[in-house]
Amino acid sequence: MTFDAPAPVSHLDAPSIIRTKRDGGVLSDAAIDWVIDAYTHGRVADAQMSALLMAIFLRGMTNGEIARWTAAMIASGERLDFSDLRRGGKPLALVDKHSTGGVGDKITIPLVPIVMACGGAVPQAAGRGLGHTGGTLDKLEAIPGFTAEIAKSQIRQQLCDLGAAIFAAGELAPADRKIYALRDVTATTESLPLIASSVMSKKIAEGTRALVLDSKVGSGAFLDTEAESRELARTMVELGTEYGVDTRALLTDMHVPLGRTVGNAIEVVESLEVLAGGGPADVVELTLALAREMCDAAGLDEVDPAATLRDGTAMDRFRALVAAQGGDATAALPLGSQTETVNAAQGGTMGDIDAMAVGLAVWRLGAGRSVPGEQVQFGAGIRIHRRPGEPVTAGEPLFTLYTDTSERLVPALRELDGAWSVGPSAPPVRPLIIDRITI
Ligand code: URA
Repeated sequence: MTFDAPAPVSHLDAPSIIRTKRDGGVLSDAAIDWVIDAYTHGRVADAQMSALLMAIFLRGMTNGEIARWTAAMIASGERLDFSDLRRGGKPLALVDKHSTGGVGDKITIPLVPIVMACGGAVPQAAGRGLGHTGGTLDKLEAIPGFTAEIAKSQIRQQLCDLGAAIFAAGELAPADRKIYALRDVTATTESLPLIASSVMSKKIAEGTRALVLDSKVGSGAFLDTEAESRELARTMVELGTEYGVDTRALLTDMHVPLGRTVGNAIEVVESLEVLAGGGPADVVELTLALAREMCDAAGLDEVDPAATLRDGTAMDRFRALVAAQGGDATAALPLGSQTETVNAAQGGTMGDIDAMAVGLAVWRLGAGRSVPGEQVQFGAGIRIHRRPGEPVTAGEPLFTLYTDTSERLVPALRELDGAWSVGPSAPPVRPLIIDRITI
């Protein structure tokens, strides 16, 4: 009897890899390389990757697995290199920032133009909303005309001429793009290995020379405890350093939403207030702390990030950046047409506001996605009228909810139930910047 030669087949397959991780095993380098490559090219199905992500979520990964998973995601696409670019005859001071995800976390929007105004060059591969947290791209796309889908040549041009480009990761770490979208709708976001590899694959591939991470701690963060957020920060700093990116992290509080707005366009409006020299104190404090770290990491001496807010140079840079990417930063921004207000039943002092509950409420209002690729509502969001520790008068508004879909209001109100309180005394004050992690 004769047999035809069999088609070459890999000795690896998705069910075995899923089973290994499901049963608490360690994935081999070959298995990780294969599954990332096969998923990127459509040879592993979404259902199989979802099962593997859930197994990773439940079983975790060793540091070796995280490093290999990150490397495989970087290798799934191209790696940008801006080391040849010059301004005034000198190499660009390339530096970027990334947050592990927060509620009301609009910091990138005022931060990037501040660093531009200080002489830095920011190649920012930004993300969309993930789970209960918002994404910089969903917020910026609320600006009429703004696009984050820009060509590599335009990114290079903007870095030289303006000092920044904010772009969708595109062909950078395409494995992360697919996995990120899947995690968003399969309840697999809150995983240290998956967050560390997602953040660092994009940031290493985007071609920055220095990186400042904002690792969130608190109810609105993806990880539950400060110890886990610290571990996440350390893991990311180590990954960046291994790839020659000067990486450091700040550990910052995320028990309470940042600022007074949570949503898409509504957060852009608040960011413009910061750029105009105003805005909520916590947003200004964190923005300037991160700006100082970025300038230091980029070797920009004797710059004063706060001065760029006072003298209007950061606002000018923001307008120029938005215009270069097709938008008009002075245009009116959308706000949901359907509203509901939560009023204070009694007077007193505003207590803590649970960031996770506010994030979920805003997601229910339509600011985030429940199926991959869903169009978000730019006008969805919540305005927080009283922040923790502020005096409250009986009957006054505490929260205003905005959406274009009236049926979304009741589920959002339910999320807010029990997530805040008004009492006789102020809640304990927590430091916004908890620690700084370097190696
Ligand atoms: N930001 C990312 O890019 N990925 C995550 O998983 C979380 C925050």
